[in-house]
Amino acid sequence: MPGFSTRAIKAASRVPDAPQPPVNVPIYQTSTFEVADATELRELLEFERPGHSYTRYSNPTHAALEAALAELEGAEAGLATASGMAAVHGVVLSILCTGDEILIPAAVYGGVLGLSRTVLTRSGITTRAVDTTDHDAVAAAIGRRTRLLWLETIANPNTAVADIAALSELAHGRGVLVAVDNTFASPALANPLALGADLVVHSTTKYIGGHSDLIGGVLLGSAERVAAAREIVVNAGGNASPFDAFLALRGLKTLGLRMERHSSNALAVAEALEGAEGVAAVRYPGLRSHPQHELARRVLRDGMAGGMLAIELSGGRPHGERFLQRVRIAVHATSLGGVDTLVSHPASSSHRQVSEADLASAGMTPGTVRVSIGLEDSADLIEDLAAAARPD
Ligand SMILES: Cc1ncc(COP(=O)(O)O)c(C=O)c1O
Repeated sequence: MPGFSTRAIKAASRVPDAPQPPVNVPIYQTSTFEVADATELRELLEFERPGHSYTRYSNPTHAALEAALAELEGAEAGLATASGMAAVHGVVLSILCTGDEILIPAAVYGGVLGLSRTVLTRSGITTRAVDTTDHDAVAAAIGRRTRLLWLETIANPNTAVADIAALSELAHGRGVLVAVDNTFASPALANPLALGADLVVHSTTKYIGGHSDLIGGVLLGSAERVAAAREIVVNAGGNASPFDAFLALRGLKTLGLRMERHSSNALAVAEALEGAEGVAAVRYPGLRSHPQHELARRVLRDGMAGGMLAIELSGGRPHGERFLQRVRIAVHATSLGGVDTLVSHPASSSHRQVSEADLASAGMTPGTVRVSIGLEDSADLIEDLAAAARPD
């Protein structure tokens, strides 16, 4: 008879039969999977047969999240990643090589600028920023070395909306691929692949998870493009954790409901704050005053415009910093897309090293605050944010 430890290890590794499917996808919290022989392992590691070998390569909980998001984005395939940035990195490095150029929006999530400054520069990949709401400027910026046009459905932080269909047509006509960060919209509001994009990424940390309790990402597209990105992600070690994939699946079930409430709350707040004391401007795609309001109605579903607002305070940087200290219901924290309303001040956080001129080309001023509207009662949010915006 084997000793106690041997028996305990074997007994505790026995996977139960579950003839009745669980209502929720289980967390396959295992780093590795038993194989029958060396051929099986080799074929699994080469993705030549279905199944799983090692969780950095794939895992059933990841596979469930990938299949769910592929279905909701109309993609052939998907890959769950450790973070939104791991998805961005996987997409970018699967398309660009030394000597190539990526075209990014002038108003873009700061992490893309960080990736460019560090990883892309070292790899000999150049980055060119352009106002992607100006299609002539995009056409003029596409050069011999341009391989990829990067877009955000709704831009972080200035909420500019990308005309994905027109820009995809323009880029494809010049042999350039298009990848869209759909994080701010979520698949409940927009499907960039249906509009012509080649690849989509999400930070599932945000709306898909929805509760500010996970870090994750996903990239989606054709089976071929996802396989190319998977090679980068697997080898760079950017694959998701099963627990975070489970949380993203749980969040996904209520995404539709949450986006309705994020959108209705955000519209109520935007309308109340536009013209309020201390507020120079409110940028929200659901407002008629937004420069791409009509486009937003075409790109985004059912008249919803999501939960992200950019509020320009009249008193510049000190006003922005004071706003953060004055909120009582909203929380001063980075990130977005969760049930709690979060506020941040790009000029003193994500864009702290950016000059005022570059802030302006990204559609911001030193007094711009970014608000991720949560699921609280809208009247409470309006009272809180209006009081915080009031000048001294
Ligand atoms: C639009 C957008 N894309 C990507 C990311 C990166 O996501 P993560 O922090 O999960 O890497 C963020 C994070 O704030 C974001 O706002």
